[in-house]
Amino acid sequence: MSFRARPEDGIIWITGASSGIGRAVALELVARGFRVAVSARRAEELEALAREAKPGAIIPAPCDVTDADGVLKAVERIEHEHGPISLAFLNAGTYKPVSIEPFVLKDWQSMFDVNIDGVLTGLNAVLPRFLARGKGQLAINASVAGFGPLPRAAVYGATKAALIHMAGSLQFDCTPKNITVQVVCPGFVATPLTAKNDHPMPFIIPVDDAAKRICDGFATGGFEITFPRRMKWLLKAINLLPWPAYFWLVGKGTGASR
Ligand SMILES: NC(=O)c1ccc[n+]([C@@H]2O[C@H](COP(=O)([O-])OP(=O)(O)OC[C@H]3O[C@@H](n4cnc5c(N)ncnc54)[C@H](OP(=O)(O)O)[C@@H]3O)[C@@H](O)[C@H]2O)c1
Repeated sequence: MSFRARPEDGIIWITGASSGIGRAVALELVARGFRVAVSARRAEELEALAREAKPGAIIPAPCDVTDADGVLKAVERIEHEHGPISLAFLNAGTYKPVSIEPFVLKDWQSMFDVNIDGVLTGLNAVLPRFLARGKGQLAINASVAGFGPLPRAAVYGATKAALIHMAGSLQFDCTPKNITVQVVCPGFVATPLTAKNDHPMPFIIPVDDAAKRICDGFATGGFEITFPRRMKWLLKAINLLPWPAYFWLVGKGTGASR
């Protein structure tokens, strides 16, 4: 049986919890009896989140996930003051549609910095602790956007595909060490990240609904937490197509090809 965190195993750590999915997952976990340490750059948003829960249930631990030393210090402080982290949900991420004209290098690089390096700094902080204790649960928030190429998502999609690959590979390395690895692949969820989209978002779901599905997935312990189901199977099926058919269908469906 793979390790699945229970409230008595310790505290849960979530990155990117000042808004959207991370914030909603923190509140859902508290409702399920867990204590949660929450990280992001906006400390005042984390403090406001902590005030929404019963005293001591949510502990702000602000840090920038691109700052490896800052993340290490935040995790050290969480464990020193609140006990072992049982589950780490590496959720912080950013999204901006990219254009090739003009090509803005810093837009492309900054998404890699947060979405990829921001997960590596989290792994660097928690994996040695999980290994030393011989148990832990690790969930990485990727996206269905990582299943296959989509227009204007050259960077976001690439970072999320990399995370799915990384989680799958880690699964092999971590399972024998009693560390459960999971990848979360949401479809469209109504959060500040998607609020800026001006294109149709099929099957979009409310953030509280997403949080419930993610927490159910944590409790079940299976590798993949992908939702909503319609989006999951639609994209998985499309990704079985040969490239010419894939490009034709996705181009027509998204309006990218005239
Ligand atoms: N919404 C969707 O439809 C959807 C679908 C699939 C996957 N996802 C993924 O879900 C995750 C959360 O997204 P969301 O939709 O909840 O968006 P969101 O509301 O914009 O939340 C993003 C979170 O990441 C944090 N963050 C960004 N850069 C950071 C940094 N350098 N250091 C620390 N924290 C940082 C933000 O906090 P600060 O700004 O305070 O630092 C915020 O708490 C992302 O990984 C996203 O790719 C979202």
